[in-house]
Amino acid sequence: MTSSTISAPSNRVIIFDTTLRDGEQSPGATMSMKEKLAVASLLDAMGVDVIEAGFAASSKGDAECITAVGQAVKQATVCSLARAIKTDIEAAGRALEKVARPRIHTFVSTSPIHLEHQMRKTEEQVLEIIDETVRYARTFCDDVEWSAMDATRTGIAYLSKAVAAAVNAGASTINIPDTVGYAIPEEYQALIAQLVAQFPSVCFSVHCHDDLGLAAANSLAGVKAGARQVECTINGIGERAGNAPLEEIVMALKTRADFFGCTTGIDTKRIYPTSRFVASTTGFFVQKNKAIVGSNAFAHESGIHQDGILKNRETYEIMTPASVGITQSQIVLGKHSGRAALKNKLDEWKIEMDEEAFLRCFEAFKALCDRKKNVTEEDLLTLIHDHQHVAMQSYIKLDGFNTTQKGAGSYTATIQMQIDGTSKETSCDGDGPLDAIFQAIMAATNCHATLTSFEVHSVSQGTDAQAEAVIVLKENDRFYTGHARDTDTIMASARAYVGAVGKIMAQAAQKEA
Ligand code: KIV
Ligand code: ZN
Repeated sequence: MTSSTISAPSNRVIIFDTTLRDGEQSPGATMSMKEKLAVASLLDAMGVDVIEAGFAASSKGDAECITAVGQAVKQATVCSLARAIKTDIEAAGRALEKVARPRIHTFVSTSPIHLEHQMRKTEEQVLEIIDETVRYARTFCDDVEWSAMDATRTGIAYLSKAVAAAVNAGASTINIPDTVGYAIPEEYQALIAQLVAQFPSVCFSVHCHDDLGLAAANSLAGVKAGARQVECTINGIGERAGNAPLEEIVMALKTRADFFGCTTGIDTKRIYPTSRFVASTTGFFVQKNKAIVGSNAFAHESGIHQDGILKNRETYEIMTPASVGITQSQIVLGKHSGRAALKNKLDEWKIEMDEEAFLRCFEAFKALCDRKKNVTEEDLLTLIHDHQHVAMQSYIKLDGFNTTQKGAGSYTATIQMQIDGTSKETSCDGDGPLDAIFQAIMAATNCHATLTSFEVHSVSQGTDAQAEAVIVLKENDRFYTGHARDTDTIMASARAYVGAVGKIMAQAAQKEA
């Protein structure tokens, strides 16, 4: 393992993305190894500095994923989380052994409430743990980050001692998480400012949760106070109310460079395609009015606004849709476009696809052009993501289905699937066509998960709009989300169901490995 710490100019903010670790901790956001690799490659292409790829000690699958992400990315540092326990640090060190730019991120709680009720340790004991575990992490790699869990509910005097212990033991990045989303911007800014003044050569990091809807505001307040790393996730996914959204932090720093005086290494045009891919992979959709990446984020409805925009966009627009990668044009590709044109689009979005998936995607694109009058860039991005998801689904694939009505409220579905490379046809009865299809998928895959949520909505306007289906299945207290879009609602629903079952099968295979 070669390793070194990140060095950056003093006004450069390091973007540390934890979509694959804290983000994946949201119930239902479970991603397979292939999906994590695809997300990591988009983050890397976007210019994220550090990718937290998982928590090596949590499972063999997570450890393998960290190694795989570490070997796949071209520029980012890749990091594993580790509790302040030697076996965790060892697992992280081993997962990062063959990674070019490794980081171990170890953490321990510092707040009185955590020390008393969760850890049952004294402050002195925790200082010893910090010293011992950070030193141990440094035996595996030079780049060690230490986090004071629940820092914002820790008294400053003890927090300073804990930071000093971590710095003296060799941590070069110190993270001050607002673990429970309790901080208020002014307060957090003052806390970071105090620490920066006390430890001027340390890179302080902010990691804020959104329980009070303040994660982005707190993170930015931390930057204003001198923090030079921000921990965030795409679309703000994460534990409970989520983490600070990467897109909001990056665009605030860019749009208000006059106020912050800081830069990031993010290619902001990659924000929207990455956001869309993470949403379709996790099934966590972005609300319409979400800042930066919501579908209404750049829509101007009121007459006064539209009038202003027509006269000069800057009257009501502080950043352009194009600057975050939203192209509002109708697509220039159509019925008569060839493969090279589609390949060009994939290159433009930096999306990699193997030859087989590409050919299937091209066929589907042609079919969509026949069914839908106006194929937009949005439709194309959706179609490409869907094909990426199908290609990543290595265990099961839905080849087709048909349903027949036997009587009032009684249907039979026959489905054709490929399960682990073998074709299978299964028939089942149900109360409705979808129920019969879902039953058949369960029977074919021998899956006994419970359906906890099923939503379908239209993603564009008109009778030829695409339907988007999201299915959440629960098995062994874990939630698995499947997602698909199609102009046929039943097809979208069936494929979403197969997607969720595929995730359960991938998880089971990772456990067995
Ligand atoms: O929120 C938190 O405190 C964390 C730590 C593990 C950094 O996610
Ligand atoms: Zn967190």
